[in-house]
Amino acid sequence: WSVALGALIFGYLLGSIPFGLLLTRAAGLGDIRSIGSGNIGATNVLRTGNKKLAAATLLLDALKATAAAVIAYAFFGKDAGTLAGFAAFLGHLYPVWLGFKGGKGVATYIGTLLGVAPWMVLVFAAVWLSMVKITKYSSLSALVATLVIPVVLWFINEPRIALVMAIMTVISWWKHEANIRRLIAGTESRIGQKG
Ligand code: G3P
Repeated sequence: WSVALGALIFGYLLGSIPFGLLLTRAAGLGDIRSIGSGNIGATNVLRTGNKKLAAATLLLDALKATAAAVIAYAFFGKDAGTLAGFAAFLGHLYPVWLGFKGGKGVATYIGTLLGVAPWMVLVFAAVWLSMVKITKYSSLSALVATLVIPVVLWFINEPRIALVMAIMTVISWWKHEANIRRLIAGTESRIGQKG
């Protein structure tokens, strides 16, 4: 239990570093929370028009979860790794530093996969990129990719990782509520569109 608790606290603290907010602030772009969707993630950083900053946000937000997962995995095994990745995801969604108002967890979802089931990142990327090509919606693409991942994990006989990723899918969908409403209303912004 102390291992699980340690992995959770360590993962949470790493995950709660809001790279999107820090990078845009450092670049003098103001508060990302008052731009576009108001989200602190890479998709919203892209709306500032700075592609490099958006890529850096995606990478760093993903890698904080990977780091948490890989370190816990190395010391205490795959379950601890998955738990630490999950905690990093929660840290990103509910960071204590931002009054528990964080992101939607897509990058940390990918980062956790990279740490505990790396080949699944290719599945995520294939689904996400195909969906983006067809629809140009970042949110919808992530919603579909996060549905596919637990199913594939289940079929390749990784039931414990599948379960944790399924929980992350449900929480991330929950955090995408406003996006889902906009998608239904036809008002969701597409990649390449501002606002
Ligand atoms: O990664 C989050 C994405 O799915 C939606 O972001 O800024 O359009 O709400 P945003």
